[in-house]
Parts: sequence; C-alpha cells; structure tokens
Amino acid sequence: MGGLFSDVTDTIFLDKEVLEEEYQPDEILEREEEVEEYKSAFKDVLFGRNPSNVMLYGKAGVGKTAVTRYVLDELQTETDQREAADDLYVHRHNCNGDTMFSAVRTLVNGLLPKGSASFPKKGLSTADALEEFYSQLDRLGGTHLVVLDEIDHLQDANELLYELPRARANDHIEAARIGVIGISNNYTFRQRLSAKVQDALKEEEISFSTYDANELRAILHDRAEKALSDDSYSNSAIAKAAAVAGRDTGSARQAIDLLRKGAEIAEGNDEPMVEDDHIGLAREAVKRGRLQDKIEDQSLHARLVLEAVAQLDHVGETPARSKEIMQMYRRVAAKRAEEPLTTLKSIQNHLSDLYMLGFLLRREENEGRKGGSYHEYDLDMDPDVVFEVCDELDEEDAV
Ligand SMILES: Nc1ncnc2c1ncn2[C@@H]1O[C@H](COP(=O)(O)OP(=O)(O)O)[C@@H](O)[C@H]1O
Ligand SMILES: [Mg+2]
Repeated sequence: MGGLFSDVTDTIFLDKEVLEEEYQPDEILEREEEVEEYKSAFKDVLFGRNPSNVMLYGKAGVGKTAVTRYVLDELQTETDQREAADDLYVHRHNCNGDTMFSAVRTLVNGLLPKGSASFPKKGLSTADALEEFYSQLDRLGGTHLVVLDEIDHLQDANELLYELPRARANDHIEAARIGVIGISNNYTFRQRLSAKVQDALKEEEISFSTYDANELRAILHDRAEKALSDDSYSNSAIAKAAAVAGRDTGSARQAIDLLRKGAEIAEGNDEPMVEDDHIGLAREAVKRGRLQDKIEDQSLHARLVLEAVAQLDHVGETPARSKEIMQMYRRVAAKRAEEPLTTLKSIQNHLSDLYMLGFLLRREENEGRKGGSYHEYDLDMDPDVVFEVCDELDEEDAV
C-alpha cells in the first residue's frame, strides 16, 4: 500500500510560482511606450548626471511595479557594464501605512554597512533619520534611485517629496546623486501635493492605462506557457480569463488570478485541462469571497436582519414587508442566542442600510384605499452565502 500522497502524480502546474504575486516576469509585454518613456527619463544616469524624478500613475494591476523593476534592473545591468557610469543603487520601498520617519528609517537600514546596528525605532526624529540617510548616501557616492511604491499611502508624502529631490541643491549631499520614483494608484495624488512640492519635484510623469482583453491575452499566454504543462489548458480558457478581466478591471493581476484559480479548480476536480468553465467558476469564487468580506464587515444586528431576509428568501416568502422580516429576525436572533432589537424602526433602518449597500432589493407598494405606501424587500444574492458567513462568525464567537 502506498502512502497518503503516493497517488499524487503530474499536476496541471509546471511551475506554479509563475502565477503568484511575487513572481517577476523577465519579459514585459504590451508596455513598449511606457518602457520607452522610462528609459528616456533615466538616460542621464549613464553619464553621471542627475537623474530625473519620475511619478508613475495607474490603477491597480496595470504593471507599474513590474515595469519599474524591469527597467531599473536593465539600468543596473547597463551601469555595471559601463566604466564611465557612476555606481547605481536602487532602493525600493513600499509605503503602505508608513510615516515619513519609518520610510526614511527603512531606507537608512538598507544602506548601513553590514554589521552595524540598525537605526533606532524610537528616540530620534525624522530630521535625524534624514541626516543619517544623507551621510550614508555620501559615504557610498554614486547614483541613488529611491522607489517609493504606493506613495499615496504615505502619511507625509509632501515632506518627503520636498526633501529628497532637493538634497543636493541644499548641500545635504555632495558626492551622491539622488532621484525619486513615486508610484501611485491614484491619479489625484499630484493635486494633493502642495504647490511648493509640485514645483520642487519637476518630475516626469508616466501614466499606465488599463489593459484591454487583447493585451491581457498576450500576457496570459506567456504566463500559461511557463506555469502550466503543455496541453493542460485551452486557448479559449485564456481568452475567457482575458475577456473577463478586461471587462471588469483591466488588471493583469486579476487576469492572472483567474487563470491560477481556474487551474486549481480543474486540478481539484481531477480534470486534465483548464477550460472556459473553470475560469467561470474561478470568477464566481472570487465574487463570493468579496461578498463574504462585505457581509463580515456588517454589525451584528445588520447581519441578523440580513440573515432573516435570506431565511425568508430560502422558504419562498420574499418579497417581504419589514413587519414580516422583524418576526423572522426575532427567530434568527433567538437561534443565535442574541438579544434582539425591539423597535420596528430600528429594523427598518437596518433594511434601508442593507438596501443601500446592495445586499437587498426594495420595492415601493401602495396601501390601497387607505393611502400611504410601504416597502417590500428581497434578497439580492445567494442566500447560501449569507448562511455560510453567519454560521462561520457564530462559531468564531462561540470559541
Ligand atoms: N506588461 C506586463 N507584462 C507581463 N506581466 C505583467 C505586465 N503587467 C503586469 N504584469 C503582471 O501583473 C501583475 C500585476 O502587476 P503589478 O506590476 O504588480 O501592478 P501594479 O503595480 O500596477 O499594481 C504582476 O504579476 C505582474 O508581473
Ligand atoms: Mg504595485
């Protein structure tokens, strides 16, 4: 008898990492113009001149991080080969949730000589961190490109973007040269900067548009070839993932995720090939996941009201009026051992919120001879998703 895993043989995946978030493609497709713009912004680096500052804009998943990495790797290779070029140092930093102090501190730590103690977390100021940063830059000399990814999440972007580009002009550094590359998902980021910063930056601006289905198909084909075994995917599955992502978001990340999830589903079903249907199922699964997150974000009583409507939907008693929903809500609350809200008004408020958030449908009905009107509600989603999430949260509570 074999062991537990002995029947696991070939899988659809040849190299699954190629479809994972950290994978860096060695070839950038469908971004020739943007790569050219980047290239011309950094030409000066090869001749020991000051680098330009660059701001990159574009929605999530359109290749900002991947293209930046590719271009700077190429620049690094070229400067390493050319004797006339100064040494190039690239510092990458993701600013998500950072303050200027923690961003500069991380940059400093990346520059300190091996074996030296890292810059303290507490007790020193942002100005101290900057001073240390500058002295490390001058110790090394050469050209330094500081990539601030997701810079729209940096709390004090204004100050950092005012400081760094002017470091040389202000005699903070002498031997080194510095260029800043800011990457933002948000097109309005620049307008949020102060006039003084906008003026000081003098940056080149590169914007990335979303991908269309054809571009996504090219990117996906390239990935699929590397990630999946031969004959384990159909061209139409690739086309479908590209079409869905093209329509939804124009994001290569979404397209790649759909392909990976579709392949996982095919593999989980012991099927030899990724087909259109698997991509469809992958998309459903993602949508469901998002819906679950949205339900989880609701307050307890909003969830109980939602569950009541789902329960009525389940037994075919929707659309329903708030009074009927309230009765079911009491039963749901009792089942979950929660103290119910007592006024009809509070239930109506939750129903109205749930309608606004897109969980429910609402219809206005007239009261007939008496005049006046009332609302009827219906569930605008699969009730099973509601039950699943509510059961799960209930179990978590019980622990
Ligand atoms: N032009 C492209 N060619 C190949 N892969 C790409 C391209 N654009 C994006 N990708 C891939 O899509 C995913 C998302 O790209 P990323 O650069 O992280 O997007 P962003 O930084 O704009 O949110 C990554 O896996 C990346 O490798
Ligand atoms: Mg990115």
